[in-house]
Amino acid sequence: MRFGNLAALALAALAMILAVASSSVAWSQADEDRQIADSLAAMLRAGRAVISSSQDRINDPALGPKGLDGATVLARTVEIYQHTTGVDPRSIDPASRAGRLLNDEMQAIKSVMDANQLSIDAQGTGFKGFIPAVFSRLVGEAFSHIANGEAEMRVTAPPDLVRNRKSRPDAWELDIIKTKFLAPGWPAGQSVESRADQGGHMIFRIAVPEYYVATCLSCHGSPKGQTDITGYPMEGASLGDLGGVISIKLLH
Ligand code: HEC
Repeated sequence: MRFGNLAALALAALAMILAVASSSVAWSQADEDRQIADSLAAMLRAGRAVISSSQDRINDPALGPKGLDGATVLARTVEIYQHTTGVDPRSIDPASRAGRLLNDEMQAIKSVMDANQLSIDAQGTGFKGFIPAVFSRLVGEAFSHIANGEAEMRVTAPPDLVRNRKSRPDAWELDIIKTKFLAPGWPAGQSVESRADQGGHMIFRIAVPEYYVATCLSCHGSPKGQTDITGYPMEGASLGDLGGVISIKLLH
């Protein structure tokens, strides 16, 4: 009896230790996933900033070559990334999951720019349709392809704002947009994440809200319905409205 009690106690203690150990494994895994997703989002934003600051140059019909080849845009992107995050992406071990995925994204940025050189460098055309949103969509597609099932990244938006059908939110994104990001009182900028087991694989997802700033409204603002420079009808959005969501999936 005494022995039975002791054994039961020892078992209970062991179970507790195991529970704590496995929850701390899950915890550090979630931490790593979040860090990786943050770095992927920061790299996308850095690249987008480079395109945004080059927009007048890209749109200039008088200019031929714009000097925005893949290597140049990537170098500038890395500079901005380093400035905003305080981390040199080249210092991250390329063999680690974090380093590999970040490198995949850097590769994607380079390839998207190289693939669009001809149209960007075209002389005699003003607006060429190469804007930060298109860059983001193409980088997301290229990255998801290069990461080959290990990660996916895209930028989506509330359904009534979506311009490109490829960027429509999926069920998970839609639910978060409706019940969280658009809910009154949702803290601006707060992201939402989830971990779920899908057929034996752990999937980490994170959605990061983004809001319209003044420069967005020349296309997404008013008068609602009037065609903007890109040929889309303006949405009538206001400063600070939820404009989009960076959505990242990491698969284990
Ligand atoms: C020059 C006009 C223009 C400006 C300025 C602009 N956008 Fe867009 N936006 C577009 C176009 C065109 C698309 C569709 C791109 C595509 O084909 O993928 C788009 C797409 C998007 C998308 C992806 C979902 C969708 O609708 O397909 C988001 C999110 C978005 N814009 C947010 C913003 C934000 C935030 C800003 C300001 C920082 C901004 N946009 C500035 C024209 C613009």
